[in-house]
Amino acid sequence: MKYPKNWTDYELIDFGNGRKLERFGELIADRPEPSALSSPSLSKEQWRKADIFFEEQKNQTGNWDKQIGDFTIEYTFGENSIRFKLSQGTFKHLGVFPEQAANWDFIADRCASLTESGIKPKVLNLFAYTGGASLAANLSGAEVTHVDSVKSAVTWARENAELNSIDSIRWIVEDARKFVEKSVRRGDIYHGIIMDPPIFGLGPKGKNWKLNRDLPELVENAMKVLHSEDRFFILNTYSPQLSLQDLKKVLSKSPGFPKHFESTTLGLRSSAGKELELGNLLRC
Ligand SMILES: C[S@@+](CC[C@H](N)C(=O)[O-])C[C@H]1O[C@@H](n2cnc3c(N)ncnc32)[C@H](O)[C@@H]1O
Repeated sequence: MKYPKNWTDYELIDFGNGRKLERFGELIADRPEPSALSSPSLSKEQWRKADIFFEEQKNQTGNWDKQIGDFTIEYTFGENSIRFKLSQGTFKHLGVFPEQAANWDFIADRCASLTESGIKPKVLNLFAYTGGASLAANLSGAEVTHVDSVKSAVTWARENAELNSIDSIRWIVEDARKFVEKSVRRGDIYHGIIMDPPIFGLGPKGKNWKLNRDLPELVENAMKVLHSEDRFFILNTYSPQLSLQDLKKVLSKSPGFPKHFESTTLGLRSSAGKELELGNLLRC
């Protein structure tokens, strides 16, 4: 399992019984986590110290017991750091997937190697949400294209960019498949492609995104716009219906997909050293 090691503003304090107890900066949150199947390590009293608690109702929406207002946290990697605006809404998410920091380190590393070889990396971030990977790539010297089909997610990512005094990212509100199809037609080439597709998502009218159905074609097209040598690729999925084995099969069948890649899980390690797996990860 890959997990981030450089967080100071985030900590997975404990998990279990379908929930996570986490610290974001000074704030402690208790929220649902379907992967947290084991029993918690800490007592109920310790869990009750959470400042905010999310109660899920239906379709993953629900309510926070308290509204504490927007706040920021920071992630430092190498000489760079990224500030994120966190905010409570009708979902359990606060605006950052902390496990993704393991990928931000990888992105920084890959962009640095490309830069050392005299290349100005061009990076495409698909399903990009609030932009953690886009900001990590930009701060590591890349020219970044950020794509998400939800306008409010792109607005949030732009706010994060402003917080970090970044004004050189290309922002696109579009279905990832459609954007990549257009890139193929234009003959675009990227040195890095990052994708973290959801199980279900939005898409053009009448054609919503479905991971199992749509991933093979998206990866196949992505390979057409990925540089044949100077490149990196990251794919994350968080779906119980798509095992790591199945994911490897999808990618191995995709023409042009690199023969050697790392296949593992992505997750978090709790303060007590327990591992929480939060999806599959393929990268190279
Ligand atoms: C799991 S989140 C990605 C999280 C991201 N890796 C991060 O760490 O910030 C999935 C994102 O995909 C977006 N999305 C859903 N369907 C999409 C589609 N068809 N095309 C592009 N983006 C889509 C959602 O708006 C959401 O922001």
